Amino acid sequence: MDRNTKLKNILSTFVSAYSKFDNNIIVHSKEVAFLTLSICNALSIDEIKKKDIMVAAYLHDIAASRTNLLDSLKKFDTVEYHAHCIYGYVFFDTFMPCNNFSKYILYHHEPFNSKNIINNIEIPIESNILKIADDISIFKLTDNDITIDKIREFLLSRKDLYNPIYLDIFLSNYGDEILKKLLDKSYLEYLADYGDEILINNTDFVTLVEAMAFVLDFKCEITTMHSQTVSLFSVLLAKEFDLPDIFEIRVGSLLHDIGKLAIPDSILKKPSSLTPEEFEVMKKHVEYTYEILSNLKNEKILKIASNHHEKLNGQGYPKGISDLSFQERLVSVADIFAALTQKRSYKNGYSKEKTIEILRNCANNCEIDTCIVNKVIEKYDYFIDMNFELNETYNNKINLLKEKYNTLSSYNEFINFKINPT
Ligand SMILES: [Fe+2]
Ligand SMILES: [Fe+2]
Ligand SMILES: [Fe+2]
Ligand SMILES: [Fe+2]
Repeated sequence: MDRNTKLKNILSTFVSAYSKFDNNIIVHSKEVAFLTLSICNALSIDEIKKKDIMVAAYLHDIAASRTNLLDSLKKFDTVEYHAHCIYGYVFFDTFMPCNNFSKYILYHHEPFNSKNIINNIEIPIESNILKIADDISIFKLTDNDITIDKIREFLLSRKDLYNPIYLDIFLSNYGDEILKKLLDKSYLEYLADYGDEILINNTDFVTLVEAMAFVLDFKCEITTMHSQTVSLFSVLLAKEFDLPDIFEIRVGSLLHDIGKLAIPDSILKKPSSLTPEEFEVMKKHVEYTYEILSNLKNEKILKIASNHHEKLNGQGYPKGISDLSFQERLVSVADIFAALTQKRSYKNGYSKEKTIEILRNCANNCEIDTCIVNKVIEKYDYFIDMNFELNETYNNKINLLKEKYNTLSSYNEFINFKINPT
């Protein structure tokens, strides 16, 4: 079944997810998106290009969690900036090949007329729109008593870094309007009205969601692949049961643990079992998943993802509900199956015998659906083989990403940036 989703819903979901690293990022992304939109409108940039620039504006700092950006957010023109530009570029170039927006991300800190062409990837003139928007937003963060005049003074003191056409917008009466909206926060309403009519199809939607799930998997090397595996098992199960529509299952399973972005590394990566207090913190990931995915405005996906720890006997969390749809039950079994067979920070993957025994016990305790468990047992070897293939593909992608990163970053001599999932 083909449907369209509003692009802005997925972008808000993305921003909400990675803002779990730091709330400054969500404010910053929205401010940059608003300023970018205002510049595009002032210049009557065509809608297709505007859409790409807007996607880049929302996602330009996606690599913030993987670099020193959060620490250096308030410093200008520091070398750390290049690391997250390159990472953001290679991330989308690898996971969403043929996109038109990653080159804007690559050059979003590059001064106007820069000759720093990386690996023959030409600098789009519009990338300087992101630069000026980004600088204004960051400058605003550094001053609690910010005014329009101060922003103008700041821009003029660095005027060689900006395309004069973009700079002039902020020196005009229209610039007054934009900056006023930025400072009194009314820009949020303006931004909320943007892009209601811009839709993306299911295929592009799933590609974006896959990229988003990778951001989570990257957070913790040991759980790298978990979201992808749960999604694979869920989709295979859905096919086994001839479910007519797997779109929601695919998306819900990919994003079921996205709330873990908000869980501290000390708990997420703890090499031993969690204390009861730590477990309470860990359990919160489901509520964060709910919070993040509310932005998608798709009730089915929201329920599939946020009910994955609920049990049929009502003993699950966070709500303790027992009335679960077949799709929700299915993802919950896929999640347990993946968790049992995969390595975790505190355990290795379990054997086939032990995995089956635990699944049977859970079914006998009326925690999970017996019929789905039986299907997992019946197809056990096939599912594991398919997951092995998925791992191979994933590892190839990671290697490609590392290779691309190393090729591009050698132009900028970055040494302290790590890509660690292996
Ligand atoms: Fe940036
Ligand atoms: Fe930024
Ligand atoms: Fe979970
Ligand atoms: Fe999970």
